[in-house]
Amino acid sequence: MKTKGALLWEPGTDSGWSVEEIEIDPPKRREVMVRLAASGLCHSDQHLDDGVIPLGWAPVLGGHEGAGVVTEVGPEVDDIEVGDHVVLSFLPSCGKCAMCVAGQSNMCALGAGVLGGTAPDGTHRVHARGKGVGCMSFLGTFAPYVCAPVDAVVRIADDIPLDKAALIGCGVPTGWGSAVYAAETRIGDIVVVVGIGGVGINAVQGARHKGARHIVAVDPVAFKREQALSFGATHAVSDYGEAAEVVAGLTNGQGADRVILTTGVAYGNLLEPAQQLTRRGGVLVVTAAAPAGQREVEFDLFTFAMSGKRLQGSLYGTTNARNDIPLLCDLYRTGQLKLDELITRTYRLDDINQAFRDMRDGKNLRGVIMYDH
Ligand SMILES: NC(=O)c1ccc[n+]([C@@H]2O[C@H](COP(=O)([O-])OP(=O)(O)OC[C@H]3O[C@@H](n4cnc5c(N)ncnc54)[C@H](O)[C@@H]3O)[C@@H](O)[C@H]2O)c1
Ligand SMILES: [Zn+2]
Ligand SMILES: [Zn+2]
Repeated sequence: MKTKGALLWEPGTDSGWSVEEIEIDPPKRREVMVRLAASGLCHSDQHLDDGVIPLGWAPVLGGHEGAGVVTEVGPEVDDIEVGDHVVLSFLPSCGKCAMCVAGQSNMCALGAGVLGGTAPDGTHRVHARGKGVGCMSFLGTFAPYVCAPVDAVVRIADDIPLDKAALIGCGVPTGWGSAVYAAETRIGDIVVVVGIGGVGINAVQGARHKGARHIVAVDPVAFKREQALSFGATHAVSDYGEAAEVVAGLTNGQGADRVILTTGVAYGNLLEPAQQLTRRGGVLVVTAAAPAGQREVEFDLFTFAMSGKRLQGSLYGTTNARNDIPLLCDLYRTGQLKLDELITRTYRLDDINQAFRDMRDGKNLRGVIMYDH
């Protein structure tokens, strides 16, 4: 089918997105076509443009946070039907590889290839200007339709509004799971979340779910701090210095139980102050993407080892998409998870460059592209 999508022809050069005609092939084996209601804008797509996440191939159709209705199924799809409401998961889970069967589907072997530039079978599903187009996360939600591997498609109940459900394809589980699973937050913990974007605000929600006593949100932008308080943070401060004062006061100088790094970029100088906020035996979670290739990190390794702290990477919040996407939908339905309030502004696909400017300017918790069909 012919439609339009937002492409980068020179990723990593801050060129901005080109909205132009694309052709999407019908689904092949174990693939489905999804008519999207909406696509969230995650900072990881911004990183394709600014080069924090380098690709080494082009062009790319961006976007990896979407939800919609299945319009067509390819051969050998027996678990999804036309008309199903689905969330597209930014990491697929094949259900068969060693990590999937061990219950760590965020580490799925298929998922390891999402930035490879083709569909899982090595061919292209999207074409533009006569060239094969690679899709972010095997998806490419910056277009009204996505031809997706069925392994990246999770069916949800029909009553969940799809434009809100789109955010459960990346930002919500990544942030929520960073607090719930990666940080292993416990009742009564003091949790610090550094960076209150679409990911960090959901770390605040996750920490609240696990019964944190105090949640300290750190963000230089006043709007983000206000939002953090309305999502359950008990304190909101603008930088590490203020956070250190608040945490010292709350913990009698001991430090926070969990510190979660969800800034737009994980620069190397952000680690040591985060460690200093973390108590002896506490956990420091890194969810934010660092510039690939960054090797210089400020980190007091002596103190780290001798105070028994844990440094924990967090991919997709260590969630299991097939379990956690329906769970998060249920938590939303029962009023225990905020989704509506995550969406600060909506945009048309044609205004995608404005939407990313607004992200960089700190204006949105999440901006969302709405598709009307
Ligand atoms: N690990 C994963 O699986 C995964 C998944 C999704 C996104 N990410 C990454 O998570 C990060 C956050 O994504 P997002 O969509 O929430 O971004 P975002 O742009 O919506 O939010 C980032 C926030 O960090 C704040 N910030 C920037 N510098 C800061 C500092 N020094 N101290 C405190 N706050 C600071 C900004 O003001 C902003 O509010 C990105 O690096 C993204 O690539 C990782
Ligand atoms: Zn994302
Ligand atoms: Zn797998």
